[in-house]
Amino acid sequence: MNKKDMGSENMQDKTILTGIQPSGVITLGNYIGAVKQMVRLQDVVKKSYLFVADMHAITVPQDPKELHENIRSLIALYIACGIDPKKNVIFLQSDNPYHASVSWLLECTTPFGELSRMTQFKDKSSKNVNFSAGLFTYPVLMAADILIYDADYVPVGIDQKQHVELARNIAERFNKKFGETFKMPEPYISDSGTKIMDLLDPTKKMSKSSTNPRSVIKILDTKEEIEKKIMGATTDSEMKIKYDEKNKPGISNLMNIVISLTDETIPSLEEKFEGKNYGEFKRYVADVVVEELGKIQKRYYELLGSNELDQILEEAAKETRAIALQKFNEMKVKMGLYK
Ligand code: AMP
Ligand code: TRP
Repeated sequence: MNKKDMGSENMQDKTILTGIQPSGVITLGNYIGAVKQMVRLQDVVKKSYLFVADMHAITVPQDPKELHENIRSLIALYIACGIDPKKNVIFLQSDNPYHASVSWLLECTTPFGELSRMTQFKDKSSKNVNFSAGLFTYPVLMAADILIYDADYVPVGIDQKQHVELARNIAERFNKKFGETFKMPEPYISDSGTKIMDLLDPTKKMSKSSTNPRSVIKILDTKEEIEKKIMGATTDSEMKIKYDEKNKPGISNLMNIVISLTDETIPSLEEKFEGKNYGEFKRYVADVVVEELGKIQKRYYELLGSNELDQILEEAAKETRAIALQKFNEMKVKMGLYK
């Protein structure tokens, strides 16, 4: 389902769930395109689960020290960005051993051939001949993550759509063979919102994998870094602050950033900056971004230095373990194992 279609549907009785890999950096694009959507959704759904997919991360080689820091940092960042621990169950995947247990039961009902067809597996395994067995079974673990909690919608980027569809196949097969056990999840594709573009090449998406750091704003960039990057953003030679994605992609991107973070609209911005130059406009954009990210960073550093995070994780681990154990036992009994 696309986000555009979501408004019309009542979400009050729906459960959403998503996992995020602890890759260390969140960009302004991630924040506007994905995190803010989760913040919006947390107020309209029945239940929301958000976890750090640390067990998915180790399917490819990781530096243990870096990984360790990234996991905690990501949780703090999400909370600092407005994901409310009272409205979402925020947990670490590896805090709940039943994800792997459920995954094993599902692996034994998933055809090898089906996993061989996963695009991400084909991609990643072709880049490293020594790929792990975990890289191959990764989509089944993801199915377990989703199916344990009876999620209705799974907000993901387009690259993960195939994995959510696989989770549906796995659920359907299990239900048919062993009786109704899992709810059918649906991908909730999160790329139909505002796309934030690269600051130096505004015709391509702002991406954490960009080779030039000056083209990407990261959530933890300092005030000076943010100002420098925005003042150096590519624009055009017309000297007119007007929204025109095709002919003025740079200016349009900066306008999109502002309207995503404030109550401004495109017409209000065009009016406000009529007759003004690009320098003045960019300074305004920089102020808006610095203010928004400044608030997030303050909360982030507070969280990192307190034990609030541990408490949040401990409570969530307890809650999710109980849910997952119940599903695991139900599956075992249905498959003929002992509870
Ligand atoms: P990725 O960083 O590609 O793993 O994407 C994580 C999430 O952030 C997905 O939901 C993407 O759609 C979203 N996202 C990533 N980059 C951008 C961007 N430049 N603009 C808007 N959304 C983005
Ligand atoms: N595989 C997802 C990614 O790389 C992360 C993930 C793991 C996930 N388990 C999930 C996303 C369950 C949604 C639901 O982005």
